[in-house]
Formats: sequence, C-alpha cells, structure tokens
Amino acid sequence: MLSIFDEIPARERIIVALDCPRDEALSLADDLRGHAIWLKVGMTLYYACGPSIVSELREKGFKVFLDLKLHDIPHQVRGAAEAAARSGADMLTMHVSGGSAMLEAGRQGALAGSEGRSEGDIVTLGITVLTSMDEPALASVGVPRTPEEQVALLGDVAKRAGISGVVASPREAAALRSIMGDRAYIVTPGVRPKGSEKGDQSRISTPSDAFCAGASHIVVGRPITQAKDPVQAFERICGEIA
Ligand code: C5P
Repeated sequence: MLSIFDEIPARERIIVALDCPRDEALSLADDLRGHAIWLKVGMTLYYACGPSIVSELREKGFKVFLDLKLHDIPHQVRGAAEAAARSGADMLTMHVSGGSAMLEAGRQGALAGSEGRSEGDIVTLGITVLTSMDEPALASVGVPRTPEEQVALLGDVAKRAGISGVVASPREAAALRSIMGDRAYIVTPGVRPKGSEKGDQSRISTPSDAFCAGASHIVVGRPITQAKDPVQAFERICGEIA
C-alpha cells in the first residue's frame, strides 16, 4: 500500500540513532550535517545529558526524535510530552499499552509544548510490542496473543487515539500500513544495509525492504555511527534506497 511519504527523498526518511556518549553524539552530528535530517536521542543519552542535548542538536539544524517511550498516568504523560516538545523534540514516543486516554494526553501535551509549530510538525508515535518480546514473553505478562496479533491490536488503538503513528518491526509494517492508512507514520528500527553487521538485532530487514513493506521512516544506528566513515555509510544507504 502506498503512503504519503513515498514522494519524500530518502535522506529525510532515515533517522540516525545516536546511542553513544555526548561528545561522540555531537561530533557525529557535526559530521552528518548537510547529509542527515533526523537524529534519534534515546534514554541513555537523554538521561546522561538532560534536555540540553535536544536543543543542541536542534541548533545544529537537525530534527530530533526523542525516544523516551513514555508510560504513566495521563497527567504525567501530558506534562512529559509538553516538556519534551518545549525542549525542541520533533518526534516522541509513548507506549500504546498505556491506553487511549494516555495517548490522547501525550498528543495534547506535545501540541501544547510545540508553541507555534503546527500539529503536523510534532509527531507522536506509539510503541507497539518491543522487538525483545516474543510469544512466551507476552504470555508471561498475561498477553495471550502472538506479537503480530498484539501489534495489529495496538496499531488499531493508536489509530483511534489520533496519534501520528507507531514504531514497529519492518516485518509488521505492511499489516500496520493497511490498518492505519496512508498518512500514518510507521517508523521501523531493526534495519541493516546489505553486508553490514547484525549486532544484537535478530529480526532484520534491509532499508529497501522496510520501505517497500510500508515504513515511513527507518531508524539506523550502529551501521552508520560505528562505520569508519559515517557520512559515507549514510550516503550509501540513501543510494541503496534510490
Ligand atoms: O544500532 P541499531 O541500528 O541497532 O539501533 C537501533 C535503534 O532503534 C536503537 O536506538 C534501539 O534502541 C532502537 N530500537 C530497536 N528496536 C526496537 C525499538 C527501538 O532497535 N524495537
């Protein structure tokens, strides 16, 4: 199924995950300036540096995906999403399993904190099922479904809550695209360009396969950040997709 993202140039659909210490993250950002558009800040970097890392990356001209996977009562999530948007985050994440009231509160908070930016400029994503969870792990916390069934169910919850989209494995992108429609963000990690190390990712797809399956954006970390030449690695992925 086609999506509204299909016409957007590849470099605007690749999010580089900066899972490294602050100095290294800022130096990678300097290298990737003029090439990448999106950078992802996860919990490790954020809890080490605080909100200043978001504003510093924004000042360098990047869009920032702040991946803190919020999950709390709606009042807390509204406040956290507002603060995250105020610090400059352009995209943020919440667990869909927190429920539709929590997702709606997060969406409203993000909007309130994004002063002057339009709703389309602040992207609220739901985390469906962590790729570290398999069927027995779901059963052990009382979820009697396969990961695929649970992702589909949560994709529907996310759509009805009116958030921008979801984070999911590339293998679930096609089903989510048909559930969520052509305007939903479907952001997929677990992507490895041809010939690169898998690292600790087990269920991987190539960038092209992830996009063909319906991803709007892909998240790529170590194949770029640990490459001898991160810019060349980034550009090679852009080329592979084109
Ligand atoms: O280095 P690598 O490309 O494996 O990085 C993938 C990024 O996507 C990491 O920041 C990781 O936390 C994130 N992620 C993931 N799998 C998920 C959700 C997020 O790999 N299910």
